[in-house]
Amino acid sequence: MSLLPLRWGILGTGAIARQFVQAVLDSTGGRLVAVGSRTGEAAATFAAAFGHPRVHGSYEALLADPEVEAVYLATPHPWHAQWAIRATEAGKHILCEKPLTLNLEDARCVVAAARAAGVTLMEAYMYRAHPQTAKLVELVRNGAVGRLGLVQASFGFHCPFMPGHRLFANALGGGGILDVGGYPVSMARLLAGAASGRAFADPVVVTGAARLHPVEGTDLHAAATLRFDDGLLAQVACGVSLEMENVVRLFGEEGSIFVPEPWMPARAGGVSRLVLQRRGAAPETIEVPAERPLYVYEVEAFAAAVRAGLAEVPAMTPADTLGNMAALDAWREAAGVVYRGAQA
Ligand SMILES: NC(=O)c1ccc[n+]([C@@H]2O[C@H](COP(=O)([O-])OP(=O)(O)OC[C@H]3O[C@@H](n4cnc5c(N)ncnc54)[C@H](OP(=O)(O)O)[C@@H]3O)[C@@H](O)[C@H]2O)c1
Repeated sequence: MSLLPLRWGILGTGAIARQFVQAVLDSTGGRLVAVGSRTGEAAATFAAAFGHPRVHGSYEALLADPEVEAVYLATPHPWHAQWAIRATEAGKHILCEKPLTLNLEDARCVVAAARAAGVTLMEAYMYRAHPQTAKLVELVRNGAVGRLGLVQASFGFHCPFMPGHRLFANALGGGGILDVGGYPVSMARLLAGAASGRAFADPVVVTGAARLHPVEGTDLHAAATLRFDDGLLAQVACGVSLEMENVVRLFGEEGSIFVPEPWMPARAGGVSRLVLQRRGAAPETIEVPAERPLYVYEVEAFAAAVRAGLAEVPAMTPADTLGNMAALDAWREAAGVVYRGAQA
Protein backbone atom coordinates (compact mmCIF):
# COMPACT_ATOMS: atom_id res chain seq x y z
CA MET A 1 0.00 0.00 0.00
CA SER A 2 1.51 3.35 -0.96
CA LEU A 3 1.04 6.12 1.56
CA LEU A 4 0.48 9.78 0.81
CA PRO A 5 3.75 11.77 0.90
CA LEU A 6 4.24 13.85 4.03
CA ARG A 7 3.68 17.55 3.33
CA TRP A 8 6.72 19.53 4.53
CA GLY A 9 7.19 23.14 5.50
CA ILE A 10 10.73 24.48 5.90
CA LEU A 11 11.45 26.87 8.78
CA GLY A 12 14.69 28.77 8.12
CA THR A 13 16.43 28.97 4.75
CA GLY A 14 20.11 28.46 5.62
CA ALA A 15 22.78 26.06 4.39
CA ILE A 16 21.46 22.78 5.77
CA ALA A 17 17.86 23.57 4.81
CA ARG A 18 18.99 23.56 1.17
CA GLN A 19 20.44 20.09 1.51
CA PHE A 20 17.44 18.79 3.37
CA VAL A 21 14.97 20.13 0.83
CA GLN A 22 16.81 18.41 -1.98
CA ALA A 23 16.34 15.17 -0.04
CA VAL A 24 12.60 15.86 0.27
CA LEU A 25 12.45 16.38 -3.48
CA ASP A 26 14.41 13.15 -4.04
CA SER A 27 12.20 11.14 -1.70
CA THR A 28 9.01 9.24 -2.29
CA GLY A 29 7.68 9.82 1.24
CA GLY A 30 7.91 13.61 1.27
CA ARG A 31 6.59 16.61 -0.63
CA LEU A 32 7.67 20.23 -0.23
CA VAL A 33 4.65 22.50 0.14
CA ALA A 34 5.90 25.68 1.85
CA VAL A 35 8.91 27.60 3.04
CA GLY A 36 9.04 30.15 5.85
CA SER A 37 11.76 32.69 6.50
CA ARG A 38 12.19 35.82 8.61
CA THR A 39 11.96 37.72 5.33
CA GLY A 40 9.76 37.25 2.31
CA GLU A 41 12.77 37.83 0.05
CA ALA A 42 14.77 34.93 1.47
CA ALA A 43 11.75 32.65 1.34
CA ALA A 44 11.07 33.62 -2.27
CA THR A 45 14.70 33.04 -3.33
CA PHE A 46 14.68 29.65 -1.64
CA ALA A 47 11.33 28.70 -3.15
CA ALA A 48 12.49 29.66 -6.64
CA ALA A 49 15.41 27.24 -6.34
CA PHE A 50 13.24 24.34 -5.20
CA GLY A 51 10.15 24.13 -7.38
CA HIS A 52 8.19 27.13 -6.10
CA PRO A 53 6.50 25.93 -2.94
CA ARG A 54 4.29 28.47 -1.13
CA VAL A 55 6.26 31.35 0.39
CA HIS A 56 5.82 32.74 3.92
CA GLY A 57 7.61 35.87 5.11
CA SER A 58 7.50 34.82 8.76
CA TYR A 59 7.82 31.63 10.74
CA GLU A 60 4.39 32.29 12.29
CA ALA A 61 2.80 32.28 8.84
CA LEU A 62 4.47 28.99 7.99
CA LEU A 63 3.10 27.39 11.16
CA ALA A 64 -0.37 28.71 10.35
CA ASP A 65 -0.32 27.09 6.89
CA PRO A 66 -2.93 24.30 7.05
CA GLU A 67 -1.34 22.33 4.23
CA VAL A 68 1.91 21.88 6.19
CA GLU A 69 1.90 18.62 8.15
CA ALA A 70 5.54 18.50 9.22
CA VAL A 71 8.05 21.25 9.91
CA TYR A 72 11.77 20.95 9.30
CA LEU A 73 13.38 23.37 11.74
CA ALA A 74 16.80 24.66 10.65
CA THR A 75 17.57 27.86 12.52
CA PRO A 76 20.73 28.26 14.64
CA HIS A 77 20.48 26.26 17.88
CA PRO A 78 19.17 28.95 20.29
CA TRP A 79 15.90 29.22 18.35
CA HIS A 80 15.19 25.48 18.16
CA ALA A 81 13.35 25.25 21.49
CA GLN A 82 10.91 28.09 20.97
CA TRP A 83 10.04 27.26 17.37
CA ALA A 84 9.77 23.55 18.05
CA ILE A 85 7.31 24.28 20.86
CA ARG A 86 5.35 26.68 18.69
CA ALA A 87 5.25 24.08 15.93
CA THR A 88 3.80 21.50 18.35
CA GLU A 89 1.19 24.05 19.41
CA ALA A 90 0.25 24.44 15.76
CA GLY A 91 -0.17 20.65 15.56
CA LYS A 92 2.82 20.08 13.26
CA HIS A 93 5.17 17.12 13.38
CA ILE A 94 8.74 18.32 13.86
CA LEU A 95 12.08 17.25 12.54
CA CYS A 96 14.42 19.61 14.38
CA GLU A 97 18.06 20.08 13.50
CA LYS A 98 20.62 18.99 16.05
CA PRO A 99 21.08 19.85 18.82
CA LEU A 100 17.39 19.77 19.73
CA THR A 101 18.05 22.64 22.14
CA LEU A 102 20.93 24.33 23.95
CA ASN A 103 20.53 22.18 27.06
CA LEU A 104 18.67 19.28 28.67
CA GLU A 105 16.17 21.45 30.50
CA ASP A 106 14.94 23.06 27.28
CA ALA A 107 14.95 19.68 25.52
CA ARG A 108 12.62 18.27 28.19
CA CYS A 109 10.21 21.15 27.51
CA VAL A 110 10.19 20.42 23.77
CA VAL A 111 9.67 16.69 24.32
CA ALA A 112 6.83 17.39 26.77
CA ALA A 113 5.20 19.80 24.32
CA ALA A 114 5.38 17.24 21.49
CA ARG A 115 3.89 14.56 23.72
CA ALA A 116 1.09 16.86 24.86
CA ALA A 117 0.26 17.75 21.25
CA GLY A 118 0.51 14.15 20.04
CA VAL A 119 2.94 15.01 17.25
CA THR A 120 6.03 13.16 16.05
CA LEU A 121 9.37 14.64 17.11
CA MET A 122 12.86 13.74 15.92
CA GLU A 123 16.25 15.38 16.35
CA ALA A 124 17.89 15.33 12.92
CA TYR A 125 20.93 13.10 13.45
CA MET A 126 20.68 11.85 9.87
CA TYR A 127 23.38 9.18 10.17
CA ARG A 128 21.08 7.31 12.56
CA ALA A 129 18.63 6.54 9.74
CA HIS A 130 21.31 5.23 7.36
CA PRO A 131 21.78 1.50 6.62
CA GLN A 132 25.47 1.68 7.55
CA THR A 133 24.53 2.59 11.12
CA ALA A 134 22.03 -0.28 11.24
CA LYS A 135 24.76 -2.65 10.04
CA LEU A 136 27.18 -1.43 12.70
CA VAL A 137 24.59 -1.92 15.43
CA GLU A 138 23.82 -5.41 14.10
CA LEU A 139 27.52 -6.37 14.19
CA VAL A 140 27.94 -5.22 17.77
CA ARG A 141 24.67 -6.80 18.87
CA ASN A 142 25.65 -10.11 17.30
CA GLY A 143 28.99 -10.09 19.07
CA ALA A 144 31.20 -9.62 15.98
CA VAL A 145 33.96 -8.11 18.15
CA GLY A 146 33.07 -9.83 21.41
CA ARG A 147 32.51 -7.80 24.55
CA LEU A 148 32.85 -4.15 23.62
CA GLY A 149 35.43 -2.24 25.65
CA LEU A 150 36.28 1.03 23.93
CA VAL A 151 34.74 3.36 21.34
CA GLN A 152 36.75 6.21 19.82
CA ALA A 153 34.91 8.79 17.75
CA SER A 154 35.63 12.26 16.44
CA PHE A 155 33.95 14.97 14.41
CA GLY A 156 36.01 18.09 13.93
CA PHE A 157 36.59 20.54 11.10
CA HIS A 158 38.59 23.70 10.74
CA CYS A 159 36.67 26.89 10.11
CA PRO A 160 38.58 30.19 10.36
CA PHE A 161 37.21 32.34 13.18
CA MET A 162 34.41 34.62 12.00
CA PRO A 163 33.01 37.13 14.49
CA GLY A 164 29.25 36.81 14.81
CA HIS A 165 29.11 33.46 13.01
CA ARG A 166 26.89 30.78 14.55
CA LEU A 167 29.81 28.35 14.88
CA PHE A 168 31.65 30.70 17.25
CA ALA A 169 29.31 33.36 18.69
CA ASN A 170 28.21 32.79 22.26
CA ALA A 171 24.82 34.37 21.56
CA LEU A 172 24.27 31.93 18.67
CA GLY A 173 25.10 28.82 20.69
CA GLY A 174 28.56 28.51 19.11
CA GLY A 175 31.17 25.85 19.79
CA GLY A 176 31.97 22.35 18.68
CA ILE A 177 30.28 20.39 21.44
CA LEU A 178 26.81 21.48 20.40
CA ASP A 179 27.55 21.67 16.68
CA VAL A 180 29.30 18.34 16.10
CA GLY A 181 30.13 16.85 19.52
CA GLY A 182 26.66 15.35 19.64
CA TYR A 183 27.59 12.98 16.82
CA PRO A 184 30.35 11.05 18.60
CA VAL A 185 28.41 11.13 21.85
CA SER A 186 25.27 9.78 20.19
CA MET A 187 27.32 7.10 18.43
CA ALA A 188 28.98 5.99 21.68
CA ARG A 189 25.58 5.83 23.40
CA LEU A 190 24.09 3.91 20.47
CA LEU A 191 26.90 1.34 20.50
CA ALA A 192 26.81 1.05 24.30
CA GLY A 193 23.12 0.23 23.89
CA ALA A 194 23.80 -2.31 21.14
CA ALA A 195 26.40 -3.98 23.36
CA SER A 196 23.88 -4.38 26.16
CA GLY A 197 20.70 -5.26 24.25
CA ARG A 198 19.17 -1.80 24.44
CA ALA A 199 18.33 0.93 21.93
CA PHE A 200 20.88 3.19 23.62
CA ALA A 201 22.69 3.53 26.92
CA ASP A 202 23.69 6.59 28.88
CA PRO A 203 27.11 7.14 30.43
CA VAL A 204 27.38 7.13 34.21
CA VAL A 205 30.43 9.39 34.12
CA VAL A 206 31.36 12.15 31.66
CA THR A 207 34.65 13.99 31.99
CA GLY A 208 35.76 16.57 29.49
CA ALA A 209 37.83 19.60 28.60
CA ALA A 210 38.08 22.16 25.81
CA ARG A 211 40.02 25.04 24.37
CA LEU A 212 37.70 28.04 24.59
CA HIS A 213 37.61 31.12 22.41
CA PRO A 214 39.08 33.92 24.58
CA VAL A 215 36.21 36.33 23.98
CA GLU A 216 33.22 34.18 23.10
CA GLY A 217 33.91 31.44 25.65
CA THR A 218 32.69 28.83 23.17
CA ASP A 219 34.66 25.64 22.60
CA LEU A 220 37.00 25.65 19.61
CA HIS A 221 37.81 22.02 20.16
CA ALA A 222 36.96 19.62 22.95
CA ALA A 223 37.43 16.06 24.13
CA ALA A 224 35.62 13.87 26.62
CA THR A 225 35.70 10.42 28.16
CA LEU A 226 32.42 8.61 28.78
CA ARG A 227 32.14 5.62 31.10
CA PHE A 228 29.14 3.34 30.87
CA ASP A 229 27.87 1.18 33.73
CA ASP A 230 29.53 -2.03 32.52
CA GLY A 231 32.96 -0.41 32.14
CA LEU A 232 32.63 0.35 28.45
CA LEU A 233 34.57 3.52 27.70
CA ALA A 234 34.26 6.07 24.92
CA GLN A 235 36.78 8.72 23.93
CA VAL A 236 35.11 11.44 21.92
CA ALA A 237 36.41 14.65 20.37
CA CYS A 238 35.03 17.48 18.30
CA GLY A 239 35.92 20.91 17.03
CA VAL A 240 35.01 23.82 14.81
CA SER A 241 38.64 25.00 14.62
CA LEU A 242 40.43 21.69 14.32
CA GLU A 243 40.19 19.22 11.49
CA MET A 244 39.99 15.72 12.95
CA GLU A 245 40.01 12.16 11.63
CA ASN A 246 36.22 12.00 11.70
CA VAL A 247 36.12 8.25 12.05
CA VAL A 248 34.84 5.74 14.59
CA ARG A 249 36.81 2.83 15.99
CA LEU A 250 35.35 0.12 18.21
CA PHE A 251 37.46 -2.29 20.18
CA GLY A 252 36.04 -5.51 21.61
CA GLU A 253 37.64 -8.48 23.31
CA GLU A 254 37.48 -10.48 20.06
CA GLY A 255 38.29 -7.79 17.52
CA SER A 256 37.71 -4.27 16.26
CA ILE A 257 35.69 -2.33 13.69
CA PHE A 258 36.84 0.74 11.80
CA VAL A 259 34.20 3.11 10.40
CA PRO A 260 35.84 5.51 7.91
CA GLU A 261 32.68 7.52 7.15
CA PRO A 262 30.50 7.40 10.24
CA TRP A 263 28.62 10.69 9.93
CA MET A 264 28.01 11.12 6.22
CA PRO A 265 28.17 7.64 4.73
CA ALA A 266 27.64 7.44 0.96
CA ARG A 267 26.26 10.96 0.96
CA ALA A 268 24.96 10.78 -2.62
CA GLY A 269 24.03 7.11 -2.34
CA GLY A 270 26.26 4.18 -3.22
CA VAL A 271 28.39 1.94 -1.08
CA SER A 272 30.01 2.65 2.28
CA ARG A 273 32.44 0.39 4.06
CA LEU A 274 33.17 -0.98 7.52
CA VAL A 275 36.39 -2.82 8.27
CA LEU A 276 36.03 -5.73 10.69
CA GLN A 277 39.21 -7.11 12.17
CA ARG A 278 38.63 -10.28 14.16
CA ARG A 279 41.54 -11.13 16.45
CA GLY A 280 44.05 -13.30 14.60
CA ALA A 281 42.23 -13.03 11.24
CA ALA A 282 42.72 -10.90 8.14
CA PRO A 283 40.74 -7.63 7.98
CA GLU A 284 37.34 -8.05 6.33
CA THR A 285 35.74 -5.17 4.43
CA ILE A 286 31.98 -5.13 4.78
CA GLU A 287 30.22 -3.20 2.04
CA VAL A 288 26.93 -1.54 2.88
CA PRO A 289 24.88 -0.56 -0.16
CA ALA A 290 22.73 2.55 0.08
CA GLU A 291 20.16 2.95 -2.66
CA ARG A 292 19.44 6.56 -1.73
CA PRO A 293 21.36 9.66 -0.70
CA LEU A 294 22.04 10.03 3.02
CA TYR A 295 19.42 12.65 3.89
CA VAL A 296 16.70 10.84 1.94
CA TYR A 297 16.85 8.03 4.53
CA GLU A 298 16.06 10.58 7.22
CA VAL A 299 13.12 11.97 5.20
CA GLU A 300 11.72 8.49 4.60
CA ALA A 301 12.20 7.36 8.22
CA PHE A 302 10.38 10.41 9.52
CA ALA A 303 7.49 10.04 7.05
CA ALA A 304 7.15 6.34 7.79
CA ALA A 305 6.85 7.03 11.52
CA VAL A 306 4.26 9.76 11.01
CA ARG A 307 2.20 7.61 8.65
CA ALA A 308 2.41 4.73 11.13
CA GLY A 309 1.04 7.03 13.82
CA LEU A 310 4.24 6.84 15.89
CA ALA A 311 5.14 9.71 18.20
CA GLU A 312 8.80 8.88 17.78
CA VAL A 313 11.12 7.78 15.02
CA PRO A 314 13.01 4.62 16.02
CA ALA A 315 16.29 5.95 14.55
CA MET A 316 16.42 8.80 17.10
CA THR A 317 13.71 8.82 19.76
CA PRO A 318 13.05 11.71 22.15
CA ALA A 319 14.33 9.57 25.05
CA ASP A 320 17.56 9.06 23.12
CA THR A 321 17.79 12.81 22.48
CA LEU A 322 17.35 13.58 26.19
CA GLY A 323 20.17 11.19 27.05
CA ASN A 324 22.38 12.85 24.48
CA MET A 325 21.54 16.33 25.75
CA ALA A 326 22.38 15.22 29.31
CA ALA A 327 25.81 14.03 28.18
CA LEU A 328 26.42 17.24 26.22
CA ASP A 329 25.42 19.32 29.27
CA ALA A 330 27.96 17.38 31.35
CA TRP A 331 30.68 17.79 28.71
CA ARG A 332 30.06 21.53 28.41
CA GLU A 333 30.02 21.95 32.18
CA ALA A 334 33.34 20.07 32.52
CA ALA A 335 34.80 22.21 29.73
CA GLY A 336 33.49 25.48 31.15
CA VAL A 337 31.27 26.44 28.21
CA VAL A 338 28.52 28.77 29.39
CA TYR A 339 25.88 30.38 27.17
CA ARG A 340 25.32 33.85 28.46
CA GLY A 341 22.15 34.69 26.52
CA ALA A 342 18.73 34.71 28.15
CA GLN A 343 17.68 31.81 25.92
CA ALA A 344 20.28 29.45 27.37
N1 LIG B 1 22.27 17.58 10.16
C1 LIG B 1 23.22 18.20 9.50
O1 LIG B 1 23.87 17.63 8.62
C2 LIG B 1 23.50 19.65 9.78
C3 LIG B 1 24.44 20.33 9.03
C4 LIG B 1 24.63 21.69 9.25
C5 LIG B 1 23.90 22.33 10.23
N2 LIG B 1 23.00 21.64 10.98
C6 LIG B 1 22.21 22.32 12.01
O2 LIG B 1 21.25 23.15 11.37
C7 LIG B 1 21.10 24.39 12.05
C8 LIG B 1 21.34 25.52 11.06
O3 LIG B 1 22.64 25.44 10.55
P1 LIG B 1 23.04 26.13 9.15
O4 LIG B 1 24.46 25.79 8.94
O5 LIG B 1 22.06 25.80 8.11
O6 LIG B 1 22.93 27.67 9.58
P2 LIG B 1 22.77 28.93 8.63
O7 LIG B 1 23.28 28.65 7.27
O8 LIG B 1 23.32 30.08 9.38
O9 LIG B 1 21.19 29.11 8.49
C9 LIG B 1 20.37 29.30 9.59
C10 LIG B 1 19.06 29.93 9.14
O10 LIG B 1 18.28 30.15 10.31
C11 LIG B 1 17.51 31.33 10.18
N3 LIG B 1 17.72 32.20 11.35
C12 LIG B 1 16.78 32.49 12.28
N4 LIG B 1 17.28 33.31 13.22
C13 LIG B 1 18.55 33.55 12.89
C14 LIG B 1 19.56 34.34 13.49
N5 LIG B 1 19.36 35.04 14.59
N6 LIG B 1 20.75 34.38 12.88
C15 LIG B 1 20.98 33.68 11.77
N7 LIG B 1 20.04 32.91 11.15
C16 LIG B 1 18.83 32.86 11.71
C17 LIG B 1 17.92 31.99 8.85
O11 LIG B 1 16.91 31.68 7.92
P3 LIG B 1 15.86 32.78 7.45
O12 LIG B 1 16.68 33.98 7.10
O13 LIG B 1 15.21 32.14 6.31
O14 LIG B 1 14.91 33.04 8.58
C18 LIG B 1 19.21 31.29 8.48
O15 LIG B 1 19.36 31.18 7.10
C19 LIG B 1 22.07 24.35 13.23
O16 LIG B 1 21.37 24.07 14.42
C20 LIG B 1 23.04 23.23 12.89
O17 LIG B 1 23.50 22.51 14.03
C21 LIG B 1 22.79 20.32 10.75
